Amino acid sequence: MAVKRSDGRAFDEVREMSAKVGVIPNADGSALFAFGNTIAIAAVYGPRQLHPQHMQNPLKGYLRVNYDLMSFSVYDRKRPGPSRRSSEISKVTEWALSPAIYLEQFPNSVIDVQIYILQADAGTRTAGINAASMALAHAGIPMKSLVCSVAIGKLDQDLIVDLTKEEEDFEEGEGATDFPVAVLANTNEFSLLQMDGKLPPERLNEVLELALKVTPKIFEVQKNALKACVGGKDE
Ligand code: CDP
Repeated sequence: MAVKRSDGRAFDEVREMSAKVGVIPNADGSALFAFGNTIAIAAVYGPRQLHPQHMQNPLKGYLRVNYDLMSFSVYDRKRPGPSRRSSEISKVTEWALSPAIYLEQFPNSVIDVQIYILQADAGTRTAGINAASMALAHAGIPMKSLVCSVAIGKLDQDLIVDLTKEEEDFEEGEGATDFPVAVLANTNEFSLLQMDGKLPPERLNEVLELALKVTPKIFEVQKNALKACVGGKDE
């Protein structure tokens, strides 16, 4: 590891995590998950009948995700309303979470997941997936596994985990590559692989191995937050 991280973390160290369940009492399930200064909240409503009716699937339910940044979550005020970025992140979050849910148990139904980023310092899609996974479990949705997500980064030649915005903007040498992944904790199956930047194909395994090294730590934090909440209420 030649690159020194500005916050002194080891290359395989995620930022300090915090997690809490039941943060939006009116929702069927809810959770907060933070990686350092990146804070995500998620609320789950449903399963409930999907409208309009032509969108209903008699074979399985639909997980509908809406991700967005709060206007105040970033330095330059984020204009409220959907954007190409929020549509893309909503869609990949649906894909990252759907394999973990027994959707076939909810024909013609929708499970709505709303994710808002309260404060952003990179890794918002990963924090959002972690919060949403906990919120789905908190809502009592039958799941094969929790989903754990983290961004792997390459700064010049060095692989690191959980980039900050400053690290995402690294420009020396080959610059920065951001590689968000999501893993089903019970089976170590990947449900999200994205890449922004460049990575030689022969280094892909290194990225995946590094991801599998840190996702159990995220899983522990998620599980502990869920255990701290008995019968939907915090102890
Ligand atoms: O947040 P994530 O890394 O999943 O996605 P990104 O599109 O790569 O965004 C990286 C970071 O850029 C965000 O976490 C924010 O810190 C920042 N950003 C911003 O300042 N203003 C925006 N409108 C969008 C992103």
